[in-house]
Amino acid sequence: MAVVMETLPGFRDFYPTECAARNALFTAWREVARRFHFLEFDSPILEPLELFTEKSGEEIREQLFTFEDRGGRKVALRPETTPSLVRLIGTRAASLKKPIKWFNITENFRYERPQKGRLRSFYQFNVDIVGEDSYSAEAELIALAIESFSIFGLSRQHFYVRLSDRQIWVLWLKALGIGESSLQLGLLNVLDKWERRERKDLEKDVSHCLPPAANVQEFLIRAEKLRQSSTLQEIRGCFDALNPNDALKEAVDQRLLTWEKLLAELDALQCGSFVQMDLGIVRGLAYYTGFVFEVFEASLDGRALAGGGRYDLLFEKLTGHSLPAVGFAVGDVTLVDILQKYRLLPKVTFSLDCFVIFENSTRKQALQDVGHLRQNGLSVTYALGESTVSKQFKKAFEYNPNFILFYGSDELSNNQVQVKHVTTHNVALVEREKLANFVCNYTTGSKRE
Ligand code: HAM
Repeated sequence: MAVVMETLPGFRDFYPTECAARNALFTAWREVARRFHFLEFDSPILEPLELFTEKSGEEIREQLFTFEDRGGRKVALRPETTPSLVRLIGTRAASLKKPIKWFNITENFRYERPQKGRLRSFYQFNVDIVGEDSYSAEAELIALAIESFSIFGLSRQHFYVRLSDRQIWVLWLKALGIGESSLQLGLLNVLDKWERRERKDLEKDVSHCLPPAANVQEFLIRAEKLRQSSTLQEIRGCFDALNPNDALKEAVDQRLLTWEKLLAELDALQCGSFVQMDLGIVRGLAYYTGFVFEVFEASLDGRALAGGGRYDLLFEKLTGHSLPAVGFAVGDVTLVDILQKYRLLPKVTFSLDCFVIFENSTRKQALQDVGHLRQNGLSVTYALGESTVSKQFKKAFEYNPNFILFYGSDELSNNQVQVKHVTTHNVALVEREKLANFVCNYTTGSKRE
């Protein structure tokens, strides 16, 4: 029977060009992390199931790739890396210098319906700051998120950041008299899906979450007003309309002051123009507790390019150590889509320094030099198998090397090799011992392609 020749739905093969393009993304992400001085860490791709069922929230729970291993343990392929990061840091919480600024690049798995921008296996650039409760951590991460797109040549005309705040929503629900956290979480989930739902479905969702006597229509109108707020005054107006008690009023004042500071910091970091207040963003993951943000294409086409926020309670819940944290992740699928759309995908080249051609009688010396050139850091190849010199030349031109080295027996009897620089057609006779130097000097000069 023939073997299955297709990948699973939502999984990708990476041919060399695609693999090189993916690696170029990773290189750029590592460069961004270096500029902001974040350190790379790593963790297993397979984790105990409970790591994700406990705290990631319902949406992720339903999307897990999970099975029982031979030892009877319930395990899952990671759908995200945040819970693993929490374990790593929680285990050494006391000894790590704060704030902890870490990043990683991981393959993740979610059993979603494959569609544009969403697959079942995808890569993420995860960046987190742990041990810092100030809004300046959010500002630093939003600046880094912006840099992870602008490093490819994308600008404000291509993408922007929608900044929101779960604390504002929780305060607003409290002002409506909804204080129970399970009800709040249910309503935050409804708010998260708001944009994608028909009005009648929203009514149903809301009525499931509100106490029986509540007025669903009034809730929807008021929530829509808060969702649409684009200034701090408009947010304040939404609260004033509910006549909050003094304690709540004070909490709202404090929160709006933090908003002011965060927006001022983003301006100072020259990110202000990228950031739009948008309380329509709530985020699907259950662990967020404060500011949340997502990056979108300016045209609003497609799914989020990145998303994250503050999760101050996850450490306590998973590890027993109380540590404030904020982070986000960019995905490779939507990033490649937007880079392709604006023709900004990094160019992929497979440059080859030398192609070596030899006769049967000079094979041994040629291969000795191949080894030597490679040890000197040059990329070198030759025709495998045994073939005529003319066939080797044909092959050489297919590879488009910078140099062709020809080991003719006549030249070799004088310890020399014919070296041709392909683009200029310049040919030189070079002593074998000087080959590496010759090619390196030539290549490190202006002639390298
Ligand atoms: P997330 O919003 O679930 O957050 O994912 C972040 C990004 O990963 C998305 O904006 C998207 O670009 C990409 N992504 C997510 N799911 C898929 C998928 N099925 N196919 C392709 N791309 C996808 C998190 O994962 C949080 N752990 C981020 C975070 C880090 N929060 C705090 N620290």
